[in-house]
Amino acid sequence: MANIWKKKDTAGQTERLPRHIAIIMDGNGRWATQRGLPRTAGHKAGAETFRRIATCCKDLGVEYLTVYAFSTENWKRSAEEVGAIMGLLKRYLLEAVDSMERDHIRLRFFGDMTPIAPELRALAHETDEISAHLPAGDFQVNVCLNYGGRDEILRAVRCFAAECAAGERKPEELDEALFSSCLDSRGIPDPELIIRPSGELRLSNFLLWQCAYSEFYFTDTLWPDFDETELKRAIEAYRQRDRRFGGVKK
Ligand code: FPP
Repeated sequence: MANIWKKKDTAGQTERLPRHIAIIMDGNGRWATQRGLPRTAGHKAGAETFRRIATCCKDLGVEYLTVYAFSTENWKRSAEEVGAIMGLLKRYLLEAVDSMERDHIRLRFFGDMTPIAPELRALAHETDEISAHLPAGDFQVNVCLNYGGRDEILRAVRCFAAECAAGERKPEELDEALFSSCLDSRGIPDPELIIRPSGELRLSNFLLWQCAYSEFYFTDTLWPDFDETELKRAIEAYRQRDRRFGGVKK
């Protein structure tokens, strides 16, 4: 079937399909509460939505999908809820170890993995190794785990400062490209489109450096109900945006 999202315009360019989409998977708890279910049931449904939307992004020709799975602030939730989210991630990684090579999906983690349980960290290491052997052009999912935009920036600053202290770098060498290369997202283009479902109109510490020129798409739909139609609606909205990057229209 022809991929209408990749059709060429008159100049032969792929028509405004974002290379990188980032999503704040919000609304799982409310979705469950509305149904009289425990919050953990919302995360389970949210993990299913993630699988469907990742497949859809890949089929459309999007190159990178970044999802906010667990923030540096989410540790404030009950041990039961944190455990349920970690359990869902573990299940996804176990599946991924068996399927990512076949499905040509690379996986990467953004965030500080230090406080993550050893078993989950070992699985993440395994998926990193599989990803390293997959072609660079394969679809890539970035899972933000114990991730915060401020924390990512602080870790990058600490790393650069340590290199300066060791005499390997000079402060005046630091520019945007070099700083980007110190972030978890090194080597990945900034997201052109950031989607937040569930009606909340904030960024919640997500990709603070990378979002400088991202287009935002907000919808009231709760994440477990977010589907292919919503995704295409978001992409269509993005395609209508006039992106000037601080310049003026020619
Ligand atoms: C935000 O909704 C969602 C989270 C903090 C967890 C997201 C995790 C998953 C979807 C499952 C694991 C992920 C993968 C990639 C397999 P919320 O709980 O804050 O919702 P609320 O605002 O309605 O309470």
